[in-house]
Amino acid sequence: MTATGTPAATMDTTKPSAARMYDYYLGGTHNFPADRELAEQVIASLPDTPRIMRENRAFLQAAVAHCARAGIRQFIDLGAGIPTQGPVHETARAIAPDCRVVYCDIEETAVTYGRRILADDDACGFVHADLRDREGVLAHPETARLIDFDRPVALLMLSVLQFLPDRDDPAGTVAAYRDRLAPGSMIALSHATDEAFRDRSDGITSVYRRSSTPISYRSREEIADLFTGLELVPPGVVPVPVWGAGPAPAAREANGFCGVGVKKP
Ligand SMILES: C[S@@+](CC[C@H](N)C(=O)[O-])C[C@H]1O[C@@H](n2cnc3c(N)ncnc32)[C@H](O)[C@@H]1O
Repeated sequence: MTATGTPAATMDTTKPSAARMYDYYLGGTHNFPADRELAEQVIASLPDTPRIMRENRAFLQAAVAHCARAGIRQFIDLGAGIPTQGPVHETARAIAPDCRVVYCDIEETAVTYGRRILADDDACGFVHADLRDREGVLAHPETARLIDFDRPVALLMLSVLQFLPDRDDPAGTVAAYRDRLAPGSMIALSHATDEAFRDRSDGITSVYRRSSTPISYRSREEIADLFTGLELVPPGVVPVPVWGAGPAPAAREANGFCGVGVKKP
């Protein structure tokens, strides 16, 4: 059972999951004792974790709003997690009610809850796939139903590429998606960094190794490289709380960097 007593369906609730840990950090109820226990271990090493996750969510909302205001009406959210706590479809439709969203996550929990939440919403779909399997995502019937690849798409990869080890070539993965998008499309991504807490990051990395998705922190330069071939929207690649925060954002040490890039013709 989850914190609110929702039945667990067929998902393995004994193995901590990044999607459910993230839900726990955000104050959600779609999590289990194993998730909460591991999340608390991360919080013990990095007490700011819930705030960092909320800031990431605020970036998601700012980036989605930017894309919708720029005229984009179709969104693909890779590594979406559970679509609650201010998700893409609600944020986009607050600006343009006709927005369509394909959510994608590797974890059964996110997919099960996501499909339940979106059951009555024909303009949203949830794809159960590993984002490394591009065809599994892009050629999925739900993607084909909702996305017109001849028109600009907003592709979101927020706080997910840190779950790809270097051997999976995160920059090459982003580039391969970019190459499939129409000009005018935008890619928004955020990525965790340990630049501010290298002394403690080994501990956090080893905690995440016990979840279904181990974590790989990257530097600002490595994160900026993910935007190769895209024109960055101001303010560029910046600490997560800075994007969309206005002209005088609070100075903070970075726990993650983010940005939005546009595909030019
Ligand atoms: C920290 S949550 C981020 C949720 C959301 N993108 C956000 O920023 O608010 C990371 C999510 O990425 C998912 N994930 C990790 N590796 C993935 C992969 N290879 N393919 C698809 N999803 C993945 C996890 O299951 C989890 O739900």
